[in-house]
Amino acid sequence: MTKDNVLIFDTTLRDGEQSPGATMTHAEKLEIAELLDEMGVDIIEAGFPIASEGDFKAVSEIARLSKRATICGLARANYKDIDRCWEAVKHAKSPRIHTFIGTSPLHRAIPNLTMDEMAERIHDTVTHARNLCDNVQWSPMDATRTEWDYLCRTVEIAIKAGATTINIPDTVGYTAPVESADLIRNLIATVPGADAVVFATHCHNDLGMATANSLAAVAGGARQIECTINGLGERAGNTALEEVVMALKIRGDIMPYATGIDTTKIMNISRRVAAVSGFAVQFNKAIVGKNAFAHESGIHQDGMLKNAETFEIMRPEDVGLSGTSLPLGKHSGRAALRAKLRELGFDDLADNQLNDVFVRFKDLADRKKEVFDDDLLALMHQNSGDE
Ligand code: KIV
Ligand code: ZN
Repeated sequence: MTKDNVLIFDTTLRDGEQSPGATMTHAEKLEIAELLDEMGVDIIEAGFPIASEGDFKAVSEIARLSKRATICGLARANYKDIDRCWEAVKHAKSPRIHTFIGTSPLHRAIPNLTMDEMAERIHDTVTHARNLCDNVQWSPMDATRTEWDYLCRTVEIAIKAGATTINIPDTVGYTAPVESADLIRNLIATVPGADAVVFATHCHNDLGMATANSLAAVAGGARQIECTINGLGERAGNTALEEVVMALKIRGDIMPYATGIDTTKIMNISRRVAAVSGFAVQFNKAIVGKNAFAHESGIHQDGMLKNAETFEIMRPEDVGLSGTSLPLGKHSGRAALRAKLRELGFDDLADNQLNDVFVRFKDLADRKKEVFDDDLLALMHQNSGDE
């Protein structure tokens, strides 16, 4: 089956870093950018150059160092922001300016612009950005709460002024999958010139729907997904890169879209982002959580030992892990205990010996959350001492 390409736009270093407390140092940002570039991210949003001298320097250096990704910086809808952004990204092999303005009624009230005044501002700022750079992305912030007619009008203005990518942000995570798909589909069908640009989806996770909304937007015609590693981002975070990429890989049967991501690099970058941002990954987080490929219950462990597909829909190796983990706890059964003891060198246990150690193991497991290799070695030692 031929697959359409979907571009992966990573904003860990911009929207992700906006998470309160997730600030990264200059060296950490360069390290994460290098890992993103190596894993095949198409566009790296490296920061918000006007925000601080540090952000400007980080974006400039990432632009100089990146080997293959397009490097993008964020700018509000004014010339000063856009010029500063261009100064930072212009060193990249492939630079992009991303400029935005809040188009919903709530957001229009902040700069106190009328609809016409805002439309003029969009025209002028996108034209200005396009005079500096061939690759311009424009976003109507809070698009999913913007009046339909006004959204169409502003998108059309941005396209006419030279935007090459139109990003449709669900800034507050308000939309639902069916709306997300329809919104992109209807924009592409309605706005003149829409077929000449790439539509992007940028979802936040306030209702836990960011991944579903992003994939629905792709079904509606979006060909760029904006996301962050581990779903880092303001409030409940952004769409998680690892979730959309693995969903497209595993469910290519119903979502025939390809990304250029080397998925075996996912675990490493997830761990690095957790370490440098200080945001630990929850144990049961899809794809990258400690328990995402771990099975404790006896029934599951027995199934996994016989055929890994019984309880896993993807291979741990595909995301960069060395294998499934079968942690031993009070829910574990004899099959997993025997397999673990074999791994530890006890491969010729008679059934009665296994039964004996199993009773002691259960007794210990009732008192401990997890029984580790050293605990088992101690139990085995006790066992042979008793004999
Ligand atoms: O969520 C949002 O609307 C944004 C824009 C700046 C694109 O991050
Ligand atoms: Zn955002």
